[in-house]
Amino acid sequence: MPLSDRQLEMYAGARRHEERAESYATKYDRELHKRVSSHFERRAIRRALAITGARSATVLDVPCGAGRITPLLLPVSSRLVSCDYSPAMLRVFRRMHGKPCFVGSAFDLPFADRAFDVVFSARLSHHIESDARRADYLREIMRIAAGWVIVTIFDRNSLKNRLREISRRWSGKRSKHAFARADLERIAREAGFSVAAGLPLSRLASGQVFYVLRRAAA
Ligand SMILES: C[S@@+](CC[C@H](N)C(=O)[O-])C[C@H]1O[C@@H](n2cnc3c(N)ncnc32)[C@H](O)[C@@H]1O
Repeated sequence: MPLSDRQLEMYAGARRHEERAESYATKYDRELHKRVSSHFERRAIRRALAITGARSATVLDVPCGAGRITPLLLPVSSRLVSCDYSPAMLRVFRRMHGKPCFVGSAFDLPFADRAFDVVFSARLSHHIESDARRADYLREIMRIAAGWVIVTIFDRNSLKNRLREISRRWSGKRSKHAFARADLERIAREAGFSVAAGLPLSRLASGQVFYVLRRAAA
């Protein structure tokens, strides 16, 4: 299953190793700044789910990783389907949640158009280097959503990204794979969606924004 994106191939390859999967599963509890970020993230996710009005919805979580977000999605789901590219992540997922999940790629999901009420997709887009592949991914998750998509984008215009770009002059870090809201709006519009909300995880400390996309009424 080629991903056709250099950075994502490297990232996804690393996540296929057992110890990297274990490490990802626990780092949000281990590291203080991650615990703080998790607090703000849970708040943004609850707000995003409230906007969709989901109470007993069919929900796809892709990528589900080790199931960090599963406890927030279960209460609003009549059926929650969890998918990730990494079998190692899914082994951790099964051990922690005992719920069904399957190996698959967010670029090529084995579901009919509009198969789910809500498609939830956190923390994948910023691993995709190519803008064209990021658009492919966004179109695929919208294709299978009947009503709503909740997706995170690392905002090109966020304070965090601007500071990173300045500090790159001496830190040597690579640019983040960021996207502008206008790009997302255009891709969403072409797929028949509009942006219902953009909820930053934290305006000061993070560039991640949870976007809520709504399918236009037919
Ligand atoms: C940063 S984790 C996020 C997991 C989860 N959404 C969360 O917030 O905890 C990114 C996940 O994307 C998965 N992944 C990488 N490429 C993928 C692809 N093409 N399709 C589905 N999952 C992919 C990795 O295996 C990893 O579990």
